[in-house]
Amino acid sequence: MKRELSSNLPEAEEYLKRTRKSEEVFREVSGLIPGGVNSAIQFFEPYPVYGVRGWGSRLWDVDGNEYIDFCLSYGAMTAGHCNPKIVEALRKQLEDGTLLGVPSPRVGDLAKEIMRRVPCVEMLRFTNSGTEATMHAIRLARAVTRRNMIVKMEGAYHGAHDYLLVSDKPSRMVLMGSVKNPATTADSLGIPEEVVKLTLVVHFNDADCLERALKKT
Ligand SMILES: Cc1ncc(COP(=O)(O)O)c(C=O)c1O
Repeated sequence: MKRELSSNLPEAEEYLKRTRKSEEVFREVSGLIPGGVNSAIQFFEPYPVYGVRGWGSRLWDVDGNEYIDFCLSYGAMTAGHCNPKIVEALRKQLEDGTLLGVPSPRVGDLAKEIMRRVPCVEMLRFTNSGTEATMHAIRLARAVTRRNMIVKMEGAYHGAHDYLLVSDKPSRMVLMGSVKNPATTADSLGIPEEVVKLTLVVHFNDADCLERALKKT
């Protein structure tokens, strides 16, 4: 079955032409893994490119296309792919095991280094994903302020938990509100209406819209 294009732009046709192997991988993998991805943000229409290699600022996909990687794993790879110092440190650690299931004393060393470089950091917690980081940050903010409402920008991805998987990719099929007053819409079934109501959505770069939302919190 040919994937439908939601855009008639010539670039969209070009994308299909240059990513035939990605399409094959998508067809196979999406039968095993919903949407063919393990993180909602990695999916886009008609299918994502599947990457096989990264080096420095470059990324290669299964079709052999080379990209300048401006995304760098959404910020996690800011030191570049295959940074030799990181590769060497990983190689050493692999020999001592990877996931030990108990905390490592090395977390203290890393925490100290981050605090040295960013003096306003008083305490911190490491997480395995941005989803966990924003989940902890929201819980902490709620505990401190004793307030439940949160505000996020429409169209911005901040993780895949229920509080933030809203209005990332609002569809015209749902009531998305107006530009000045965007409605909060769940990006997935399974997110309870009661939870959706706790997140207010703001149009990006619109101070008035933000002010109106903050007054509601
Ligand atoms: C600011 C911010 N918060 C949270 C996330 C969610 O991260 P993850 O996809 O690792 O859960 C991202 C991902 O790009 C992000 O940029």
